Amino acid sequence: MVLVIGATGFVGRFLTTRLLKAGNSVRVTARHIGQADAILGHNKDIEIVRGDALEAGSIIRAMAGKDTVIFLATSIGNTYIDRSPEELDKRMMTNLIRAASIPNPPRIIFLSVLCDPDRQKTAYIESRFEMEGELKKSGLPHCIFRAPVIIGKWGLFFRLCKALIERSRLIFLPRSASTPCQPIYVGDVASYLVQAVANKDMCENAYEIPGHDVMTYFDMIDLFSKTLGYSKGFLVVPVNFSNVAARILTRATGISHNAVKASLEAMSIPMVASDETRTYRDFPEIHPLGYLDAILKALREN
Ligand SMILES: NC(=O)c1ccc[n+]([C@@H]2O[C@H](COP(=O)([O-])OP(=O)(O)OC[C@H]3O[C@@H](n4cnc5c(N)ncnc54)[C@H](OP(=O)(O)O)[C@@H]3O)[C@@H](O)[C@H]2O)c1
Repeated sequence: MVLVIGATGFVGRFLTTRLLKAGNSVRVTARHIGQADAILGHNKDIEIVRGDALEAGSIIRAMAGKDTVIFLATSIGNTYIDRSPEELDKRMMTNLIRAASIPNPPRIIFLSVLCDPDRQKTAYIESRFEMEGELKKSGLPHCIFRAPVIIGKWGLFFRLCKALIERSRLIFLPRSASTPCQPIYVGDVASYLVQAVANKDMCENAYEIPGHDVMTYFDMIDLFSKTLGYSKGFLVVPVNFSNVAARILTRATGISHNAVKASLEAMSIPMVASDETRTYRDFPEIHPLGYLDAILKALREN
């Protein structure tokens, strides 16, 4: 009995199918029911209810009868003039905690970002850690998963890189392209979340869920480009051009400026696991794919 908030997003749409396949009864919230129904493939087995995480009341109603809530909502893909996506995301977490603070509360599963919490972070990543903090402080049963860049056809990294590779002869990269990352395939993220749903006793602080390979962003883009059959030239630019690059990529892909900018900024933050002990212990049968296999799978996704 699962409620997914953010089911129409990149991770959400993949996860929802996997939850159904695993035999779960799945309800999802949507701000636009018709759109969500189309995105989720008009699947009669998915119960879609109206819900906006910025309105606590609608989340309270959506939660009724569900023992697990998977929280994947983020405002980063939306454009608001007067408020930052980070501020709105934190408000969504506050609303969720308020809605779940009932006798026999549901367990909340939150997908956060993998990076060293003691090192410098971007505003977006910092907000994930603040949301984690709120959840831990709430005393509600919860499970946090920290993922690095997630690879999949509908993922930001995949879409931005593909557009960049297909449209540019020479690829300009920031110095932060030498930052290491441990990208994970979206199907592997779904495997962790589905298993956490099945194991009701799983209430750990946080699980780091990296992919198999540690690579720099430069190597990730280079290998992606070779996989697509290109041999591109690269030029590392020694100044920060994330604003200009974000504007160009937004125009080329139609992805929101906020989301592109947050992704480019995040390239300066190492996303490498520091302690996977708990992950190995509780998910011994999950063996995340390497980067190349993740890209190949993403290219084959419908
Ligand atoms: N993608 C990655 O590489 C990555 C890596 C690590 C962690 N994460 C985390 O994983 C989570 C999901 O990421 P994603 O890439 O799947 O995001 P996404 O594609 O941008 O999807 C965001 C989802 O949030 C929903 N949403 C936005 N505002 C909402 C609101 N006010 N109320 C309810 N739902 C709302 C959207 O629904 P609408 O259809 O209504 O817009 C959409 O379903 C995020 O918290 C992100 O930080 C992602």
